[in-house]
Amino acid sequence: AAPALWGIPLKYLSLVTLAVQNSLLTLIMHYSRVSTTPSSSYSSATAVLTTEILKGSISLFIAFSRIETTSTEPSRIRRLASDVFSPDCWKLSIPAILYVIQNNLQFVAVSNLQAATFQVSYQMKILTTAGFSVLLLRKKLTSPQWVALLFLAIGVAVVQIQTGAVRIVEDGALQESAHAMNPIKGFLAVATACTTSGLAGVYFEMVLKNSQTDLWVRNVQLSLFSLLPALAPVFYLYANDPQDGWLATLFRNFGAWAWATVSVQVFGGLLTALVIKYSDNILKGFATSLSIVISFLASVLLFNFQITFTFLLGSSIVLVATWLYNHQPKRTETISWALGWP
Ligand code: C5P
Repeated sequence: AAPALWGIPLKYLSLVTLAVQNSLLTLIMHYSRVSTTPSSSYSSATAVLTTEILKGSISLFIAFSRIETTSTEPSRIRRLASDVFSPDCWKLSIPAILYVIQNNLQFVAVSNLQAATFQVSYQMKILTTAGFSVLLLRKKLTSPQWVALLFLAIGVAVVQIQTGAVRIVEDGALQESAHAMNPIKGFLAVATACTTSGLAGVYFEMVLKNSQTDLWVRNVQLSLFSLLPALAPVFYLYANDPQDGWLATLFRNFGAWAWATVSVQVFGGLLTALVIKYSDNILKGFATSLSIVISFLASVLLFNFQITFTFLLGSSIVLVATWLYNHQPKRTETISWALGWP
């Protein structure tokens, strides 16, 4: 039987949770950055590194607990070590580096674009994921799917054209004024992050589904290879500002909102891994575009967001395109798509 939790298949549970997580992350991350001036904000490099350490530790714990308890403690540790340092562990270095770049760029994007604009633009991930699936997995797309990709690009462009579509009208918790945004910088960051997201996701799926190795062992390998690239900007930060102790420098201004961002990121990373295992990268795209609707409703209800016609039009095009992309005629072989091999 398919793996389930409380009777709900993990596949659907992870997809819906990912959609909710995506909406939460955009709002929390955006607020954690723009509510402060750049000089009083926390280091995104520290956030990325902390996320990797936490995600890796949780994965290590789960991987360890999955080794049969019949064996003795030292042999379980040895078994885990040989799984983690397997001959093919180097394969994870590629998605690891790409994800670290993406996770750093995400902060640049979210600090320089409106939350809603960022979320819609980030949907271009579907485009890059499809592109890399065609290139790397030799996946063939149907004509409606190509049309859907075109519409996705148009939808993102429409949202991008409008400026300041979403304004927080109430004086409430969210204030956008403290931080000056640079939309061009934000858009370049989001476009690059979409590229690494597509490549890393397809690559991770390929490695995961091409071998028997446990998902949690793969996650540990991914986090281990992330440490070096995630540490590099942190070292740079400290080298340029060494007056205080290194911990004080790295965690300067690292308040509740920063920790909230890190927690939602850790949760999202683990969920993403589950979604890639039990579904695939395309269904993941569908779940995240669902998060646009969730964010939209949450923003209207909670923060009294004002949405312009262009934003609504662009978002609708993105949603229709996503639906069209995933709406496959019954006869198409979704299994080979999920596995990615001819
Ligand atoms: O762009 P996308 O939604 O695919 O983002 C994936 C996120 O999930 C990245 O932040 C990445 O670090 C994380 N991830 C993870 N473990 C995996 C796959 C992705 O932590 N196995």
